[in-house]
Amino acid sequence: MLEIGDDARIDKRVQFNHNDEVTIRVGDRAKFYRGTEFTGPVTVGDDVFINRDAYIRPHTTIGDRVNIGPFVRLVTDTHEIGPAERRAGAVRHDPIVIGDGSWIGASATIVGGVTIGSGSIVAAGAVVTEDVPDNVIVGGVPAKTLRTLPA
Ligand SMILES: CC(C)(COP(=O)(O)OP(=O)(O)OC[C@H]1O[C@@H](n2cnc3c(N)ncnc32)[C@H](O)[C@@H]1OP(=O)(O)O)[C@@H](O)C(=O)NCCC(=O)NCCS
Repeated sequence: MLEIGDDARIDKRVQFNHNDEVTIRVGDRAKFYRGTEFTGPVTVGDDVFINRDAYIRPHTTIGDRVNIGPFVRLVTDTHEIGPAERRAGAVRHDPIVIGDGSWIGASATIVGGVTIGSGSIVAAGAVVTEDVPDNVIVGGVPAKTLRTLPA
Protein backbone atom coordinates (compact mmCIF):
# COMPACT_ATOMS: atom_id res chain seq x y z
CA MET A 1 0.00 0.00 0.00
CA LEU A 2 1.07 3.57 -0.61
CA GLU A 3 -0.19 6.27 1.73
CA ILE A 4 0.72 9.89 0.94
CA GLY A 5 -0.29 12.77 3.21
CA ASP A 6 -1.73 16.14 2.27
CA ASP A 7 -0.10 18.79 0.07
CA ALA A 8 2.58 16.52 -1.39
CA ARG A 9 4.73 17.72 -4.31
CA ILE A 10 6.26 14.50 -5.59
CA ASP A 11 7.90 14.33 -9.02
CA LYS A 12 6.35 11.66 -11.24
CA ARG A 13 9.81 10.10 -11.70
CA VAL A 14 9.92 9.06 -8.02
CA GLN A 15 9.43 5.28 -7.75
CA PHE A 16 7.54 3.62 -4.88
CA ASN A 17 7.93 -0.18 -4.69
CA HIS A 18 5.09 -1.52 -2.52
CA ASN A 19 2.36 -4.15 -2.58
CA ASP A 20 -0.60 -5.38 -0.50
CA GLU A 21 1.70 -6.62 2.27
CA VAL A 22 4.37 -3.91 2.09
CA THR A 23 3.43 -0.33 2.93
CA ILE A 24 5.14 2.96 2.16
CA ARG A 25 3.75 5.78 4.27
CA VAL A 26 4.66 9.42 3.61
CA GLY A 27 3.49 12.29 5.82
CA ASP A 28 2.12 15.70 4.95
CA ARG A 29 3.83 18.33 2.76
CA ALA A 30 6.37 15.94 1.24
CA LYS A 31 8.55 17.56 -1.43
CA PHE A 32 10.48 14.98 -3.46
CA TYR A 33 12.49 15.77 -6.58
CA ARG A 34 13.02 13.31 -9.42
CA GLY A 35 14.63 9.92 -9.37
CA THR A 36 14.35 8.65 -5.79
CA GLU A 37 13.47 4.97 -5.38
CA PHE A 38 11.71 3.77 -2.23
CA THR A 39 11.32 0.07 -1.53
CA GLY A 40 8.91 -0.62 1.34
CA PRO A 41 8.29 -0.99 4.12
CA VAL A 42 9.29 2.65 4.61
CA THR A 43 7.82 5.37 6.80
CA VAL A 44 8.46 9.09 6.16
CA GLY A 45 7.28 11.84 8.52
CA ASP A 46 5.81 15.29 7.82
CA ASP A 47 7.61 18.18 6.06
CA VAL A 48 10.33 16.03 4.53
CA PHE A 49 12.35 17.26 1.53
CA ILE A 50 14.26 14.79 -0.65
CA ASN A 51 16.50 16.05 -3.44
CA ARG A 52 17.05 13.96 -6.58
CA ASP A 53 18.01 10.28 -6.83
CA ALA A 54 18.01 9.00 -3.27
CA TYR A 55 18.02 5.20 -2.81
CA ILE A 56 15.88 4.23 0.17
CA ARG A 57 15.68 0.58 1.14
CA PRO A 58 13.26 -1.58 3.19
CA HIS A 59 12.82 -0.94 6.93
CA THR A 60 13.85 2.71 6.80
CA THR A 61 12.10 5.25 9.03
CA ILE A 62 12.56 8.97 8.33
CA GLY A 63 11.34 11.47 10.93
CA ASP A 64 9.69 14.88 10.57
CA ARG A 65 11.41 17.95 9.01
CA VAL A 66 14.24 15.90 7.53
CA ASN A 67 16.21 17.11 4.47
CA ILE A 68 17.90 14.50 2.30
CA GLY A 69 20.46 15.65 -0.27
CA PRO A 70 20.96 14.35 -3.80
CA PHE A 71 22.25 10.81 -4.38
CA VAL A 72 21.90 9.75 -0.73
CA ARG A 73 21.82 6.00 -0.06
CA LEU A 74 19.99 4.57 2.95
CA VAL A 75 21.12 0.98 2.50
CA THR A 76 19.49 -1.39 4.98
CA ASP A 77 20.55 -4.40 2.91
CA THR A 78 23.45 -6.44 4.15
CA HIS A 79 24.73 -10.02 4.04
CA GLU A 80 26.02 -12.51 6.51
CA ILE A 81 29.70 -12.95 5.76
CA GLY A 82 29.85 -16.21 3.88
CA PRO A 83 32.66 -18.62 3.06
CA ALA A 84 35.51 -17.69 0.73
CA GLU A 85 33.78 -18.85 -2.45
CA ARG A 86 30.97 -16.25 -1.87
CA ARG A 87 31.49 -13.76 0.95
CA ALA A 88 28.07 -12.13 0.46
CA GLY A 89 26.01 -14.75 2.28
CA ALA A 90 22.37 -14.66 3.38
CA VAL A 91 20.67 -11.29 2.87
CA ARG A 92 19.00 -9.36 5.64
CA HIS A 93 17.72 -5.81 6.17
CA ASP A 94 18.90 -4.01 9.31
CA PRO A 95 16.62 -1.00 10.01
CA ILE A 96 17.78 2.61 9.54
CA VAL A 97 16.21 5.47 11.51
CA ILE A 98 16.71 9.13 10.57
CA GLY A 99 15.83 11.44 13.47
CA ASP A 100 13.57 14.50 13.34
CA GLY A 101 15.06 17.66 11.94
CA SER A 102 18.23 16.08 10.62
CA TRP A 103 19.99 16.87 7.32
CA ILE A 104 21.69 14.15 5.27
CA GLY A 105 24.25 15.69 2.87
CA ALA A 106 24.76 14.87 -0.77
CA SER A 107 25.96 11.37 -1.66
CA ALA A 108 26.11 10.21 1.96
CA THR A 109 25.74 6.47 2.51
CA ILE A 110 24.12 5.19 5.70
CA VAL A 111 24.44 1.47 6.30
CA GLY A 112 21.94 -0.89 7.91
CA GLY A 113 21.38 -0.78 11.65
CA VAL A 114 22.31 2.90 12.01
CA THR A 115 20.20 5.50 13.82
CA ILE A 116 20.84 9.18 13.07
CA GLY A 117 19.90 11.32 16.06
CA SER A 118 17.53 14.27 15.92
CA GLY A 119 18.91 17.61 14.78
CA SER A 120 22.12 16.15 13.38
CA ILE A 121 23.90 16.71 10.06
CA VAL A 122 25.65 14.09 7.97
CA ALA A 123 28.26 15.85 5.80
CA ALA A 124 28.38 15.29 2.07
CA GLY A 125 30.06 12.06 1.06
CA ALA A 126 30.07 10.48 4.52
CA VAL A 127 29.75 6.76 5.07
CA VAL A 128 27.93 6.30 8.37
CA THR A 129 28.59 2.94 10.01
CA GLU A 130 27.68 3.70 13.65
CA ASP A 131 24.81 5.44 15.43
CA VAL A 132 24.98 9.25 15.45
CA PRO A 133 23.84 11.15 18.58
CA ASP A 134 21.46 14.14 18.55
CA ASN A 135 22.74 17.58 17.45
CA VAL A 136 26.14 16.81 15.96
CA ILE A 137 27.77 17.06 12.54
CA VAL A 138 29.41 13.86 11.36
CA GLY A 139 31.53 13.41 8.25
CA GLY A 140 34.18 11.33 6.56
CA VAL A 141 34.68 7.65 5.81
CA PRO A 142 33.91 6.12 8.23
CA ALA A 143 31.96 9.07 9.64
CA LYS A 144 33.22 10.69 12.84
CA THR A 145 31.85 13.63 14.84
CA LEU A 146 33.15 16.92 13.40
CA ARG A 147 31.47 19.15 15.96
CA THR A 148 28.49 19.52 18.29
CA LEU A 149 25.55 21.78 17.48
CA PRO A 150 23.37 23.74 19.90
CA ALA A 151 20.21 21.83 20.82
C1 LIG B 1 29.29 19.62 6.94
C2 LIG B 1 28.97 20.93 6.26
C3 LIG B 1 27.49 21.28 6.52
C4 LIG B 1 29.86 22.06 6.76
O1 LIG B 1 29.80 22.16 8.18
P1 LIG B 1 30.70 23.21 8.93
O2 LIG B 1 30.72 22.92 10.38
O3 LIG B 1 30.33 24.58 8.46
O4 LIG B 1 32.12 22.79 8.37
P2 LIG B 1 33.42 23.61 8.11
O5 LIG B 1 33.44 23.95 6.66
O6 LIG B 1 33.56 24.72 9.13
O7 LIG B 1 34.49 22.48 8.42
C5 LIG B 1 34.64 21.94 9.72
C6 LIG B 1 35.50 20.69 9.59
O8 LIG B 1 34.70 19.67 8.97
C7 LIG B 1 35.37 19.20 7.80
N1 LIG B 1 34.37 18.90 6.79
C8 LIG B 1 33.47 19.74 6.23
N2 LIG B 1 32.72 19.10 5.34
C9 LIG B 1 33.15 17.83 5.33
C10 LIG B 1 32.77 16.70 4.58
N3 LIG B 1 31.77 16.75 3.68
N4 LIG B 1 33.39 15.54 4.81
C11 LIG B 1 34.41 15.47 5.72
N5 LIG B 1 34.82 16.51 6.46
C12 LIG B 1 34.20 17.68 6.25
C13 LIG B 1 36.27 20.34 7.37
O9 LIG B 1 37.33 19.87 6.57
C14 LIG B 1 36.72 20.89 8.69
O10 LIG B 1 37.75 20.09 9.20
P3 LIG B 1 38.98 20.74 10.04
O11 LIG B 1 38.35 21.34 11.25
O12 LIG B 1 39.85 19.55 10.32
O13 LIG B 1 39.57 21.75 9.13
C15 LIG B 1 29.26 20.86 4.74
O14 LIG B 1 30.66 20.65 4.51
C16 LIG B 1 28.49 19.80 4.01
O15 LIG B 1 28.88 18.64 3.90
N6 LIG B 1 27.31 20.23 3.48
C17 LIG B 1 26.42 19.36 2.77
C18 LIG B 1 26.12 19.97 1.40
C19 LIG B 1 25.04 19.22 0.71
O16 LIG B 1 24.93 18.03 0.84
N7 LIG B 1 24.17 19.91 -0.01
C20 LIG B 1 23.00 19.30 -0.58
C21 LIG B 1 21.81 20.13 -0.23
S1 LIG B 1 20.30 19.21 -0.17
